[in-house]
Amino acid sequence: MSDKATLTLDGEQYDLPLVIGSEDEPAIDISSLRARTGYITLDPGYANTGSCQSSITYIDGEKGILRYRGIPIEQFANGPNFIEVVWLLICGHLPTTEEYTDFARDLTLHANLDEGMKSHFDSFPRTAPPMAVLSSMINTLSCFHPELLELEDTEQFRMAAARLISKIRTIAAYAYRHSTGQPYIYPDPHQRYVHNFLHMMFSQPYDQYVCDDLVRDALNLILILHADHEQNCSTSTVRMVASSGANLFTSCSAGVGALWGPLHGGANVAVMNMLEEIHKGNMTPEAYVNLAKDKESGVRLMGFGHRVYKDFDPRAKVLREVAERLFSQPGKKDPLLDIARKLEEIALQDPYFIERKLYPNVDFYSGIILRTIGIPTSMFTVIFAMGRLPGWIAHWWEQRRDANSRISRPRQIYTGNGLTDYVEMPSRKI
Ligand code: CMC
Repeated sequence: MSDKATLTLDGEQYDLPLVIGSEDEPAIDISSLRARTGYITLDPGYANTGSCQSSITYIDGEKGILRYRGIPIEQFANGPNFIEVVWLLICGHLPTTEEYTDFARDLTLHANLDEGMKSHFDSFPRTAPPMAVLSSMINTLSCFHPELLELEDTEQFRMAAARLISKIRTIAAYAYRHSTGQPYIYPDPHQRYVHNFLHMMFSQPYDQYVCDDLVRDALNLILILHADHEQNCSTSTVRMVASSGANLFTSCSAGVGALWGPLHGGANVAVMNMLEEIHKGNMTPEAYVNLAKDKESGVRLMGFGHRVYKDFDPRAKVLREVAERLFSQPGKKDPLLDIARKLEEIALQDPYFIERKLYPNVDFYSGIILRTIGIPTSMFTVIFAMGRLPGWIAHWWEQRRDANSRISRPRQIYTGNGLTDYVEMPSRKI
């Protein structure tokens, strides 16, 4: 492999250094390009742009590989709990027993929200989208924890991370309780992370939620599978906000906003709406796939396709198995699963999807699983955010400690008016 790229521009040759990642991913370093040539690169959607070097997550989209800190995602399918993965992402290694115990204790200690935050929930209308509430309340933590706005060292960072990881589930559960007009349920210090979240979502003051192991394990796995995905839209947003020196809470709050959109985390809701539409009999799976192929329709097959994966999304494979396992239980059936299977079967044989390498992504099966464990559709993307939070935090810290980091500030190619004079209002004509 050569050690530089040569660019010819206006008869001049420019050598540009190559950067090779630890899995041999090659890149051309163009950071000096504009200074040397006057040119910038144009890459809408950044599909060919590496914004940073990162040691957190590795993806090979052609081969369907996803690894957290080197560990293949499939190895998380049956073993660890979410909190181990949180630590792995944030601290760079699997926790020792002592690290795990200390971190779990911190999560328990900080699960409660400041009582002052409750009035903020009360001021939202019942109809407020939970993602809007989540984003606002994560940002509100900046007001209630001013001591965590400047993080000087690793110890302080871990304290802030533990508070945020712990409090997001309380915020998420309160957002749901508020939207349904139910009283807030305080966190239970005797319950572990996922169980405690389900308790705050579904217990009543007079009736304790009983947690099924299968449900707890399924939600635990969903959180793990969403925990990081390198430079996706929301993580890039978090890094971009962080690059200005903004604090952890407000950076993650921005990440929630980016995640909300239907092309990103909001796809799990869009998948459910699509399946329900088909289930109501308004359209057959075949007709829906045809509509998704028609560019004029503006419709896409939700839960299909990915910027990076040009093979099966490995997370979708694991989730499909979880769905099959859940629905093999006596009495468990969901007609939406049959519709999803049918859509997948049709699309995977259709030349349109084959040629464009469009496969089911993580959102295709996650909604069906969340629905069967009792999570309302309005909370699907919130669950995605809870899962993705450790990734955001890990990237925030990596960005913050990167000696080469600069404020994110892309350029543009201007296509507007040339020099134009200001005209007084009475003289203006359209
Ligand atoms: N249904 C129909 N056509 C599609 C789909 C789809 N789901 N996805 C991509 N295409 C077509 C697209 O029209 C284009 O066709 P052509 O080359 O003829 O113009 C081609 O495939 C490439 O698509 P693209 O939009 O250029 O690809 P992208 O990398 O910019 O977008 C994506 C990736 C995930 C936004 C897109 O595949 C999509 O909209 N999928 C549906 C929404 C979805 O499931 N999102 C969740 C993504 S995974 C989790 C996450 O990141 O949050």
